[in-house]
Parts: sequence; structure tokens; C-alpha cells
Amino acid sequence: MSAETAPIPMLDLGAEYALFEPELTQSLHAVLQSTQFILGPQAVALEREIAEYCGVGHAVGVANGTDALHLALRALGIGPGHEVITSAFTFIGTAEPISYCGATPVFVDIEPDTFNIDPAAVEAAVTPRTRAVIPVHLFGQCADLTRLRTLCDRRGLALVEDCAQAIGTDWDGTRCGGAGVAGCFSFYPSKNLGCYGDGGMVVTRDARLAEEIKVLRNHGSRTRYHHHVIGYNCRLDEMQAAILRVKLKHLDQLNALRREKAHAYNRLLAGASVVTPREHGKGMHVYHQYTLRSARRDALKAALEAAKIGSMIYYPIPLHRQDVYQEMYQSLGLPHAEQAAASVVSLPMFPMLTDAQIRRVCDVVSAV
Ligand SMILES: Cc1ncc(COP(=O)(O)O)c(C=O)c1O
Repeated sequence: MSAETAPIPMLDLGAEYALFEPELTQSLHAVLQSTQFILGPQAVALEREIAEYCGVGHAVGVANGTDALHLALRALGIGPGHEVITSAFTFIGTAEPISYCGATPVFVDIEPDTFNIDPAAVEAAVTPRTRAVIPVHLFGQCADLTRLRTLCDRRGLALVEDCAQAIGTDWDGTRCGGAGVAGCFSFYPSKNLGCYGDGGMVVTRDARLAEEIKVLRNHGSRTRYHHHVIGYNCRLDEMQAAILRVKLKHLDQLNALRREKAHAYNRLLAGASVVTPREHGKGMHVYHQYTLRSARRDALKAALEAAKIGSMIYYPIPLHRQDVYQEMYQSLGLPHAEQAAASVVSLPMFPMLTDAQIRRVCDVVSAV
């Protein structure tokens, strides 16, 4: 198949694997030979490296990003009767942990240009029951952490960052994850730093919180076979930690490549009838996704599909309209989140996307 007709995937993990194969194979082999697969030296080393990368004192590896948020909320004492404010325009994995704790997720609207939570909407949603706010740094760009931190400090709320899509980005020079009481990461394979299975991490400046999360992730146990709290089995395993340690060394370079690809898209789509992503300029956008808005979104998606070009709608249904939460939020209208769900489409985005692939995608988008 020629390059002009070959399918273009949303994400090409194979190209990235080919780049790091010798390093990855060597690291995995070392873990196999060590026969230490759970809570071993790889996870400990990764925790140290991620804490350093994020500029915080502590990091705790967990099984996935959803668990990272769940354990952070549990360790903060969030429970029944409490409310946690978050964005309606995100993956369900942001909200499930609030429900796992028996607390109530309170969904608020987004800023239409960045897709991130609107701090004014957060402020308006605070009640005496509010205990925490979870901003999501959606698609690879930080939410307004200055306003959110000021608000949380003033109202005595915990700021828990959902950094699942944003590792490596910053807000005014502070890497995401370090602005609030806890930063929660996912290492799902498609993330900017992805492992080859499930993985996650909580970063924090608070040693006590980190210790509590370590206990919760390991069956509520501080000392083996002594259990003082009902915990969970949600540890990060050694194979995933070893893979992540290899890839972390290249993360900044891979994020820079994503930015280059995004800017190439912007140039080629300048005259097209779509709205290209807006960078707020307060930090680096790391383009987990390159997401357009289009008044003809469904036609655009169909044209891409016909040309064998991958595309995805992140997210077609805002959380207050999802079946699981619908009953609680029947009368809630969040126009910006609803409008985004009806108009967004994400284009192929990965560090090894070629110029020719970008041109082909843009030709199709421009023709709709
Ligand atoms: C914004 C957001 N929050 C939470 C999660 C949950 O992460 P995981 O899939 O690792 O549980 C994801 C990942 O898919 C995500 O994109």
C-alpha cells in the first residue's frame, strides 16, 4: 500500500515501541530475572523519578489513574455527605472515584475555548458540603490553577488535579500535579507516558497523605499481615514500572514532537472551517489530543473514515447526561460542555506522525 492510501491511525504505539525496543527489552528482561514483580525496586525508583519530575516530595504508584483519584480522595477523608466539584466534560474515570467514596459528584461547566473547568462555575457550586475540587487538565493543557488554588485555599477545599492526560505540562512553570494537595496520573497505554497495561500514580507534597495512600493501595497494611483499615489491591507492578522508567527519560522529547505536529496541523488548517485548539499560553500544551470543533462534525468524521483516517470523539456525552448520573442531574444544563460534546473531533496525534500524514489529514478536513 502506498503512503498516499495507507490508513492513518489515531495513535501508532508500534512506532514508539520500535524506537525504544532495545531499552525496553533489556529492562523487562531484568525484571523477569529478578522474579520480583510487586512492590519492588522498579516501582520505588519510578516513584522517586516521577516525584522529582513533578517537583514534589512524594509519589505513590497505583494500578491505574482511576485508583489514583480514588485513593487520594479516600486518604483525604472524602465520604458520604460530601460533595466534590469536577468538570462535566471529561472521561468517567474522573467522576467514578467520587462515587466510590460515597460522595456526590457535582458537575460544572467548562471554558468553551480550552475545554477546561470554569473556575467561576466552581465558585458558584461550592456549598457547606463541598470538600474537594478536581480540575481535569484536558487534552494536555492545564486548567486555570491560579484561580482554582486561590478559591480552594480561601474556602478550605482540597485541590486534587486529574493529570491523566497532561504529564509534562505546566502552569506558570509549575509542572502539573504539584499545584494542589494531590496530582493523579494514568499510565494507560495511550497516554503521553503510557505503560503496556494499566498503571497510575499519585504525587503529593504531603508525606502523611503519601503514607496513607501506600497503606490503602496494599490491603490497608503498613506491616505485612497487619491490617488496620479496609484497603484495596491496587499496586503498580514491576514490569509496568520498568517500562515507564525507560519512557520517562524520553517524555519531554516526545511531548515536544507532539507540539510540533499540533502546530503543523494549525498552519495547514488555518483556512479550514474548523476551530483549532487554543493554547492559553500559561504553560506548555502537551497535546495528548489534538481536538477540533466543527459545525459539521459528523460529516467531517465520516469523511475521515472514508479516507481511512482515524478520529475520535472525546467525549460524545458529558457526564451529567450519562445514564449513570442522569437521574441526579435531570434539570442541570451545562451549555458549554453540551456544545463541546456535540462539536468536537480529535485527529490522529502521536509523536511519530509524519508530515505527509498530517498533510493528508488536513486535505480531508479542509475539503469538508
Ligand atoms: C481525564 C481522565 N481521568 C481519569 C482517567 C482514568 O485513568 P485509567 O484509565 O488509568 O484508570 C483517564 C484515563 O483514561 C482520563 O483520561
